[in-house]
Amino acid sequence: MPSRLVNKWIVITGASSGFGAAAARAFGAEGSKLLIGARRVERLEKVASEARNAGAPVSQSHALDVSKTASVEAFVRWVRTHTDKIDVLINNAGGALGLDPVALGKDEDWENMFQSNVLGVLRMTRACLPLMVDNPGSYVINVGSVAGRVAYEGGAAYCAAKAGELQITRALRLELCGTGVRVGTVDPGMAETEFSLVRFKGDEKRASKVYEGVEPLTAEDVADALVWVASRPPHVCIDEMLLKCTDQAAIHKLHRRTKA
Ligand SMILES: NC(=O)c1ccc[n+]([C@@H]2O[C@H](COP(=O)([O-])OP(=O)(O)OC[C@H]3O[C@@H](n4cnc5c(N)ncnc54)[C@H](OP(=O)(O)O)[C@@H]3O)[C@@H](O)[C@H]2O)c1
Repeated sequence: MPSRLVNKWIVITGASSGFGAAAARAFGAEGSKLLIGARRVERLEKVASEARNAGAPVSQSHALDVSKTASVEAFVRWVRTHTDKIDVLINNAGGALGLDPVALGKDEDWENMFQSNVLGVLRMTRACLPLMVDNPGSYVINVGSVAGRVAYEGGAAYCAAKAGELQITRALRLELCGTGVRVGTVDPGMAETEFSLVRFKGDEKRASKVYEGVEPLTAEDVADALVWVASRPPHVCIDEMLLKCTDQAAIHKLHRRTKA
């Protein structure tokens, strides 16, 4: 049976690395049409071409900074030059900055995290909804985190931002009830991407320590989950999906193998 995602228009934010890039390739392999955005346009173009090679009949990229309303609006104007409907919007752009306790937190880190993880989801969704509300079965899939459900030390702002994303998902589902538009969140636990490198501002040693002795989720594992959620039949809405690597029983309960 051909994939339900063949020729569907998929918009992915934060597709220059990690989950977003893997999702672009995975939806490409399903035969979907891709419109992807992020700030690093050279990397984004490379991902668009990988998705074309994987099988996407259309795969185009455009600069996008979800922390700026003007950039989001320009991006969605560009989307409209390709299509007048979106089938799946994946609000994935975001991440964490720093691991400081509240007492030492930096305004710039806090503001950036709320801009991308919370306001970015609101802005993108507001701009894309006109292309979705007359398209029953379309799907807004937000990428949340285990951090939006369980707090950890040093994570106050990031956990609050992802908890915000979760509540936006829930409120939007209520608002769109009756339109046929589905709204869900895919919430991963620890996954090895550029997430920790960004969080620790380029400190590779500190970033790699996060995953030491653990077999974390990969970007492809999360992309696989996004494809599965998006490919349910139109009357089925996956509201919330939580996925963690087997070594992570809970945020504070990690199985780390020690070197022999
Ligand atoms: N890895 C994990 O352990 C983990 C677990 C749970 C949830 N998450 C969430 O999953 C999402 C993807 O993260 P990842 O792990 O794939 O990390 P990643 O490899 O660092 O990817 C983050 C992506 O978001 C983009 N981005 C960040 N700020 C943006 C902005 N203002 N405008 C547009 N794009 C922006 C980045 O692109 P540019 O820099 O090129 O703009 C990049 O493509 C994030 O929302 C993150 O919070 C990650």
